[in-house]
Amino acid sequence: MFAHTPHHPGDPILSIQGHYRDDTRPAKANLTIGFYYDEQGRVPDLASVVTARDTVAAHPRTPGYLPMGGDPSYCAAMKTMLFDAEPGSPLFERIATIQTLGGSGALKVGADLLKGLYPQASVHVPGPTWDNHRSIFQGAGFEVGTYPYFDAETGTVAYDALLSHLESLPEYSVVLLHACCHNPTGTDLTPEQWDEVIRVLQRRHLLPFLDLAYLGFAHGVDEDRYLLRALVQAEQPFLLAQSCSKIFSLYAERIGSLSVFCADAELARRLHGQLEAAVRRNYSSPPAYGARIVDTVLRTPELLLQWQDELNGMRERIRQARVALGEALARHDTGGYDWGFLQRQNGLFSYDPGLGKTADRLRDEFGVYILPTGRICVAGVTSDNTETIARAFATVMAG
Ligand code: LMR
Repeated sequence: MFAHTPHHPGDPILSIQGHYRDDTRPAKANLTIGFYYDEQGRVPDLASVVTARDTVAAHPRTPGYLPMGGDPSYCAAMKTMLFDAEPGSPLFERIATIQTLGGSGALKVGADLLKGLYPQASVHVPGPTWDNHRSIFQGAGFEVGTYPYFDAETGTVAYDALLSHLESLPEYSVVLLHACCHNPTGTDLTPEQWDEVIRVLQRRHLLPFLDLAYLGFAHGVDEDRYLLRALVQAEQPFLLAQSCSKIFSLYAERIGSLSVFCADAELARRLHGQLEAAVRRNYSSPPAYGARIVDTVLRTPELLLQWQDELNGMRERIRQARVALGEALARHDTGGYDWGFLQRQNGLFSYDPGLGKTADRLRDEFGVYILPTGRICVAGVTSDNTETIARAFATVMAG
């Protein structure tokens, strides 16, 4: 039995974490996984979340399973937060939202839903993208293609190639779009470019599936929802996988949501039923705790304000880390290497395939861990390790 089990080479992101933990060098730095770290290098407990935890602890609920689609109060609060849809409004009724196991769970349930509804469709992800996108959609039985996204020569979105690729896709193809803070490149489309993409999606009858794991980390909660709003305005149905991991610093609670914007309320009810069925087949129903915390934050006006401030603070700290690293690099001889990408890119990540080629050296000689693709988690840069990282980057790029 099991003799044919193939070796699993490990996950390109998660498996590195064990190696990093086992590294005993004191001056090591982890710029691999997408965690938001504070200035002390810790994954923080947000003050709004700490208060919400206390509130939840003070009001325990009778144990029992949540509904398959999760905590209804959380789902409603999430709809309002993401879509500005007030309960009872026509827009609210047109959105089917369920609670999910983080953003990955939302992608998986959405993929299963689409495989049932469009079994012949293929899914198209940006090149490059978060590795797990491909795995999740392939795991749901889809063929996964890649559309051009990043032009490494110019460090910008390969916009013309992206558009013409979308034009060439078969009708009813699923197109995975990063709503903001593209992972791994940190490089997003402008609102005007999104408008044009939406026109192509509509003309070609393509189905957008948005991934939104970093809301508020690029420019702010409102600005970062541009694509959602534009799709709603264009009356374009879409799926939205959303994660609370980074934005509430709730990683282990596995809390996120999946929404489907539909043509009308009756369709949304049917979609909600199909989403519940997909959850039941996968894990029956989600856990309660993370949903109660996020729901408490979103429904308590002072906690909501506090959380928005904290989110703005996280974004600002990442921006400052980019500046500090850029300034530190400028003090070194880096052989004329262009580090401008650090300031141009958005959100948790920066991306530079040239730097990625030095990942082994950075790890072995300096204890600085980045992904070999060239993705670095900028939030891992703190005032304590900026100089170590700059010296490491400078050494490997200059020589
Ligand atoms: C990342 O991209 O590093 C995060 O989203 C963590 C993960 O699950 O890969």
